[in-house]
Amino acid sequence: MKILVIHGPNLNLLGQREPDHYGEQTIDSINGLLQAEATQLAVDLRIEQSNHEGQIVELIQNESPNFAGLIINPAAFTHTSIAIRDAISATGIATVEVHLSNIYQREEFRHHSYIAPVSIGQISGFKQQSYRLALHALVDYLK
Ligand code: DQA
Repeated sequence: MKILVIHGPNLNLLGQREPDHYGEQTIDSINGLLQAEATQLAVDLRIEQSNHEGQIVELIQNESPNFAGLIINPAAFTHTSIAIRDAISATGIATVEVHLSNIYQREEFRHHSYIAPVSIGQISGFKQQSYRLALHALVDYLK
């Protein structure tokens, strides 16, 4: 089984970026955690990070036929991007939305997600473990 993982904008700065919200792990260490978990689950991962909305839309459009599911942390685009929502909806790719922080404990503008209605579910607030939980949830769902 192949799963696509997309990290959205500013997540390349993890480790140095607001550790109280996002934890102290870098994106490379989160990716390492995910790869180790994927090996145990016998799943193949492709992991991408982009700061550009259009690139994320094109990645979903072009790659969804090649993957059983998508784990996405849309970061700030969660709260703004109808285009990413529509790409998920149009391709029908099975999607789990991930957030490191609990977006519902934070500013009101973070409480709304355009992505949640087109996702199987959302995992929010467990820092780097959110990704691990999302991988397990998606693999379980797809089996
Ligand atoms: C985030 C939460 C978003 O509100 C924020 O814009 C991010 C990261 C998270 O993982 O907690 O960049 O998606």
